[in-house]
Amino acid sequence: MKIGILTGGGDCPGLNPAIRGFVMKSLDYGHEVYAIREGWRGLVQGIIDDKPLTVGDVEELIYQGGTILRSSRTNPYKDPAQLEAVKANIAKFGFDAIAALGGEDTLGVASKLYKDGYKTVGVPKTMDNDLNDTDYTFGFDTSVGVNIDAIDRLRDTARSHMRIIVLEVMGRHAGWVALNSGIAGGADWILLPEVPLDVEAMCAHLKKAYARKRYGIVVASEGVELPDVGDDEKKLDAFGHVILSDRNVGEWIANTIEQQTGIETRSAVTGHIQRGGSPSAFDRVLASRLGIRAAQCVHEGDFGKMVALKGTEVVAVPIEGAVGTLKTVPIELYETVKVLFSK
Ligand code: F6P
Repeated sequence: MKIGILTGGGDCPGLNPAIRGFVMKSLDYGHEVYAIREGWRGLVQGIIDDKPLTVGDVEELIYQGGTILRSSRTNPYKDPAQLEAVKANIAKFGFDAIAALGGEDTLGVASKLYKDGYKTVGVPKTMDNDLNDTDYTFGFDTSVGVNIDAIDRLRDTARSHMRIIVLEVMGRHAGWVALNSGIAGGADWILLPEVPLDVEAMCAHLKKAYARKRYGIVVASEGVELPDVGDDEKKLDAFGHVILSDRNVGEWIANTIEQQTGIETRSAVTGHIQRGGSPSAFDRVLASRLGIRAAQCVHEGDFGKMVALKGTEVVAVPIEGAVGTLKTVPIELYETVKVLFSK
């Protein structure tokens, strides 16, 4: 078989190990895998290698962040001409199947192409961990690790200067990154998009904690709903998502805390640092297993599927069920762990 492979959307640690797993397993079956560069844009514009990927191209990828295939947020379904170009290039390059590694948007395109009669398989990735039908996405664990390191550093300086520091983290409209970073980093308050902002309760708790230890750490998701941030005027990406980093959530929260409590407060943003660097052991293993399983799906003709982690098993589920609805943090989980930052 001649298989095209692409990575779309925001990159995250684990993409390269997943590509490695997919290519190694496909070579084992005797198939050829061609690099489609820059996500769906590569299929629109024909940015496709003329030689298949070799073991030598992928064997060193296990510890490398980013994606050797490069990425873009291209939505060919937004423009009929682009969609026609995608279909023409699949035919021109003679692809028997397309493996798409991505989040909700990239896999949404793979799902639609499958419905249009094309043989696609999806591999879930996103640091946001917000994809339905898989317990975890790779990239998430590494990002949380970056944030924990940041929190440990912020705690040192917050303690020295008797300040509160707010760390703004990514995660889009799901609070998984903020929740896990906040729990593992021992934050004094955690703000998620799923939970309405309660400035009074947060400030009351921060004052109490400050009286005891004379510093405080708050972790805020970039997607937290704020009273006076006009999202209507904000820039949108190709899939219609607001660029959340423009909202400066961390800074807004820090200013509010300082005003309400009188305690000197600063903010920091880990931003795209969360998306770079060597993948964690968990992400390397998960990505490798998902890559292998996706190659198996292609070989067995099991298309329209996304490979997924369910418990300790890697399985194949319909892509359609994984996209469309986001996996957000259940309020009960937040309420359960709140004991860690309400004393
Ligand atoms: O979806 C991954 C993610 O890192 C989000 O957490 C964040 O909101 C967004 O991508 C940032 O996108 P970009 O890299 O295009 O600024």
